[in-house]
Order: sequence, then C-alpha cells, then structure tokens
Amino acid sequence: MDTNRLSKTISNALNEQMTREAHASQIYLSYAAWAANSGFDGIANFLFRHAQEERNHMMKILEYILERGAKVKIKAIPAPDGDPESVNNCFEKVFKSEVDNTTEIYKLVKLSLDEQDWATWNFMQWFVKEQTEEETMALKMLNKIKIAGGEKAKDDALYTLDKDLASTPDDARLAEDVTTQNP
Ligand code: FEO
Repeated sequence: MDTNRLSKTISNALNEQMTREAHASQIYLSYAAWAANSGFDGIANFLFRHAQEERNHMMKILEYILERGAKVKIKAIPAPDGDPESVNNCFEKVFKSEVDNTTEIYKLVKLSLDEQDWATWNFMQWFVKEQTEEETMALKMLNKIKIAGGEKAKDDALYTLDKDLASTPDDARLAEDVTTQNP
C-alpha cells in the first residue's frame, strides 16, 4: 500500500527547499561570525539567533515531509557566498538572500496550486507570512543603517546600532523548544 501523500515533484521541491533553509542558516552563521570578528557583538548576536531560526525552518519542512509519508533526502549544503564588506553590505546581502528565498517559496506555492495539493499549499502559507516578516526585518535594518550613514556610517553611529541590536528581541527559540507548529 502506498502511504506517500506527496507527488514526486512536490517531494523533490520540498527537499530542495529544506536544503535551501539550511543554506540560509549557514549564510547567517557566516555573517554573524564576520560581525563578531569585526567587533560588532550586537549584530553578531542578532545574526546568530537568526541562523537558528533558519535551521528551525529547515526542521519544519523535514517534519512535514515525514508526516506526509514521503522520503527526506539530506544533501550537502552549499557554502555561503563570502564575507560582507561592511555593515551596510552585510544587511544588503541579508535582504537579497531573503528575497531569493521568497522567490523559491512562491514557486513551491505555485506548484502545490498546480497540483491541487491543498495540504502542501496550506503548509506553505506559513512560509509566505514568515518571508514577508523577514524581508521587513532586513528592510528596517537597511533603513537604520542608511540613517546612520550607509556605507559612510561613522564608528560612533555603528557602535550605537550594534548596541541596539544586542537587545533587539526576535523569534529565535532554543532547538529543544521547537515544534512543527511552533518553529
Ligand atoms: Fe527561512 Fe529567511 O527564510
């Protein structure tokens, strides 16, 4: 008896998105390490927590694939695209990475619509909302950096920004607290 409730196309696409979320986590991790090396501990803290969020997204997709009786394929994660050149560039890269991810999420939504796989369509709506929030987060950061002077931001402005970010709350949770419903 076939208990797999995902088509081959949808299951492949979900597996690819799972690896993409892991890639997003590695990207945040690499930018966080860059920020820490550059003395921006607040920015590093913010990015480290976000790396954890992306890993939670990966787990959410992994659990969904399993719940639908399909096969999870763990693959190699591509390397991040290199260190940022500045704080401004760091958040430009964050924004681009989130927009690229949104594009891929939309493709999955379209695919589930085309196949009339309403369970996957419904599952993907959480990611649509999440991407909107993450794009807004990156946009707000870019605006703050712009006010601080963008590429020409002075050390004292960056110092204040870094201090602000150290206390900025986000949705990151500890791995043991994460469930599919509450990633
Ligand atoms: Fe999980 Fe920022 O995408």
